[in-house]
Amino acid sequence: MSKEDTTSQDQTQWDLETRLVHGGTLRSQFGETSEALFLTQGYVYDSAEQAEARFKNEEPGYQYSRFSNPTVSMFEERIRLMEGAQACRATASGMSAVTASILSYVSAGDHIVAAKALFGSCRYVVEELCPRFGIECTLVHGPDLDAWRGAVKPNTRAFFFETPANPTLDLVDIKAVSAIGREAGALVIVDNVFATPLLQRPMELGADVVVYSATKHIDGQGRCLGGAILGSNAYVEDHLANFLRQTGPAMSPFNAWVMLKGLETLPIRVKAQCESAQKIADHLAGLSGVARVLYPWRDDFEQLELAKRQMTGGGQIVTIVLDGGKREAFSFLNALKIFRITNNLGDAKSLVTHPATTTHQRLKPAARAELGICDGMVRFSIGLESYDDLAADLTQAMKKI
Ligand SMILES: Cc1ncc(COP(=O)(O)O)c(C=O)c1O
Repeated sequence: MSKEDTTSQDQTQWDLETRLVHGGTLRSQFGETSEALFLTQGYVYDSAEQAEARFKNEEPGYQYSRFSNPTVSMFEERIRLMEGAQACRATASGMSAVTASILSYVSAGDHIVAAKALFGSCRYVVEELCPRFGIECTLVHGPDLDAWRGAVKPNTRAFFFETPANPTLDLVDIKAVSAIGREAGALVIVDNVFATPLLQRPMELGADVVVYSATKHIDGQGRCLGGAILGSNAYVEDHLANFLRQTGPAMSPFNAWVMLKGLETLPIRVKAQCESAQKIADHLAGLSGVARVLYPWRDDFEQLELAKRQMTGGGQIVTIVLDGGKREAFSFLNALKIFRITNNLGDAKSLVTHPATTTHQRLKPAARAELGICDGMVRFSIGLESYDDLAADLTQAMKKI
């Protein structure tokens, strides 16, 4: 295997679009143009001495695909260059990235502070899983900076939040919360899935660790599961790498190969989807039957000032609250012809979700109400179809409620 002629140092000088097409490429002796897919579990050694040296970390090279794999390495390096982080590790899914980013760092007796508004499984990790192993967790209202300050204890080791949050699109002030975390000596972990790496750069705002569900925009075509964790060399080497190696949530080389292709087109997809989402949000606001539209780039968005400060686009998720409840929401979803009903997001296909009965059904009604997730709430992930077709689909379905 050889690296591209350019060194990794040169690659950081490239514009983002170039990094996402060429960054991290390793070429085999065949000189292939597209990245090679290494479907192998293990690697052979020239000698027993070489095997020993690899296991002692005295010689670079691959040992076993649970630890590392050339196709996965290319994905990790490309995403590392995109984020501008010191180090990156890929995982099997977004949830294994979230879980490993926290559990590799904390121990029994530690305390973490997390925002209440989290994707259901992330909330399970901090609210139910961590306490079972003696890691105490305080949940706070993410936009409330005093709540973060007030929750800090002498044993606070980590902060965790997502922004924009799923599905209400509530924002957390990354810069301010990272400063509070730093002062408290806590590792600040941000789930950056909704904004994508193109619209929000948490590390530049002070966060220590960024996690992604690569399943979403990075794949971008609804095919494979994957995740990524980015942080400093110290965090990855001293905490994360050994945790991943020993517990095994490794990304499949096939998925890494698909995700490498996804990264190549990420900027053009996200740009087109943001443009369409903005227009869809405005279109929905004009339809009768829609009580509220939530979209970070609209003038009526409560946290518009913060959105403009820490994001460079509104994203491709639009959430609405319908007049009425579950009955109206279900009849609207069932009447849509182009938008497909699913709990996923970030796809080239436009998708629609009823959060109260799917992604957030695990929460008790009171917890949902506290987050502002009502039965009339509907979340859209805007795809790459024509705006006119999507708008027409929404209009006809709204008339059928
Ligand atoms: C904000 C957020 N974080 C994490 C995840 C988990 O990702 P995955 O499904 O790849 O495990 C999701 C999935 O929807 C999500 O929306």
